[in-house]
Amino acid sequence: MLAGCGREAAPAAPPVDAAAASAAAAEEISIDLWVEQLEVGSRELYSAREAVLKAVNVASGDRIADIGAGTGLYSLLFAEAVGPGGHVYAIDIEPLFLDLINQRATDAGYDNVTAVFGRDNDITLPAQSVDVVFIADTYHYFSDREAIMKTVYEALKPGGSLILVEYDVVPGQPRPEGKDHVRFGKAAVISEIEYVGFEKAAEDDVEGLTDNYFVRFTKPE
Ligand SMILES: C[S@@+](CC[C@H](N)C(=O)[O-])C[C@H]1O[C@@H](n2cnc3c(N)ncnc32)[C@H](O)[C@@H]1O
Repeated sequence: MLAGCGREAAPAAPPVDAAAASAAAAEEISIDLWVEQLEVGSRELYSAREAVLKAVNVASGDRIADIGAGTGLYSLLFAEAVGPGGHVYAIDIEPLFLDLINQRATDAGYDNVTAVFGRDNDITLPAQSVDVVFIADTYHYFSDREAIMKTVYEALKPGGSLILVEYDVVPGQPRPEGKDHVRFGKAAVISEIEYVGFEKAAEDDVEGLTDNYFVRFTKPE
């Protein structure tokens, strides 16, 4: 799984057992390499992070789940934005990333971040426990998208927001480095998410995002 994130770094076929494969990858690959891959100015999800944060529009006191938190790039921004009265659940299937997020949250003095070991098809949060779910550059890795998105739906409070940021596959257009593995475009993704019960609320133009789209969904009241 790690090998598929960010820019191309290590050749890997999609893992059959993601947990086992990611554990093996964790032994081989330095976390520093992944920070360099995911937090580099040439990656627009990094360079446009402040604009993305603004567009997510979290409020002080919100409880937010960052699914596929990776290095914690967004989880830590959310921790600052929601403040001590809010909470961030940084969810990932890769223990190496969870360790990093715990360390970074401690170093930054945030006690409102919980790193959560997710499952391939389950975000493992209680029902109606969060106000916002954020999924960036991760949806295309889900092995059972319908199953995991049903757990996202359950975990959100009625009226809560799901924010999806994803690379858009546009047929015939050349892809940036590291995006050959993404198999479906925006229309298919939106329709899959609506299928589990979400309503599309808006597509935001976020300054600095050109290869990725930003869509806001709501869970009906
Ligand atoms: C490209 S990284 C994106 C990291 C972060 N969202 C960002 O934009 O910087 C994709 C992340 O999704 C995680 N991931 C893949 N499948 C997952 C699942 N079913 N549940 C939670 N995390 C998952 C990977 O381990 C990896 O950390």
